[in-house]
Amino acid sequence: MFLHEIKLKNYRNYEELELGTSHKVNLFIGPNAQGKTNLLESIFALALTKSHRTSKDRELIGWNGKEASVHGEVEKKYGNVSLDLVYSAQGKKAKINGLEQRKLSGFVGTLNVVMFAPEDLEIVKGTPGIRRRFLDMEIGQVQPGYLHTLQQYSKILLQRNNYLKSTGPGSVQPAMMEVWNMQLAEHGVKIMRKRQQFIEKLRINT
Ligand SMILES: Nc1ncnc2c1ncn2[C@@H]1O[C@H](COP(=O)(O)OP(=O)(O)OP(=O)(O)O)[C@@H](O)[C@H]1O
Ligand SMILES: [Mg+2]
Repeated sequence: MFLHEIKLKNYRNYEELELGTSHKVNLFIGPNAQGKTNLLESIFALALTKSHRTSKDRELIGWNGKEASVHGEVEKKYGNVSLDLVYSAQGKKAKINGLEQRKLSGFVGTLNVVMFAPEDLEIVKGTPGIRRRFLDMEIGQVQPGYLHTLQQYSKILLQRNNYLKSTGPGSVQPAMMEVWNMQLAEHGVKIMRKRQQFIEKLRINT
């Protein structure tokens, strides 16, 4: 897999960028605050539809514009793939070979990246939530269906929490809770197993 072309429009400090890459090692050198990390972040985003350093997509849009776009041409074993990602106030849209993907989880995994950044120290130092996010991003790239299960889990949890919030204490119906608890358990077990398997693999390879 080789990313041989990157185009950015209004992504962070890049109003417009067209960049061809070398098959050898690509090195970006420049003074502070020139956009080196922003460029790497855009490649990460093209693989995962989100940044490695912020969960707020709107931060990726250049200050003087309404939407940001990232385009990449990827050489894969079975041919070339063109990827497009657009961030706007309405959300984000992803295209593979010009075809808009109904689900972002169908887009993730087309380009695979492994990012090493100073922020990674947080994986060790930070809260467990950061470790889970890291695992989810890695597993999501290689295991089809994982991100979908994760989304389902979050959706059910949100519904369950909304129900608890809107129902006064004492009037919570156990039967309603039972339905959500069963579904949470079902998806939660799948997620835990996948995370556990991934950690086992890391352990074997280190
Ligand atoms: N949404 C945005 N719109 C425009 N500019 C932005 C946006 N977000 C960040 N920037 C600018 O991007 C620059 C930082 O870029 P980046 O973090 O990629 O720098 P860097 O080259 O990695 O620097 P360092 O060597 O310090 O790590 C800053 O000048 C910041 O103001
Ligand atoms: Mg940097």
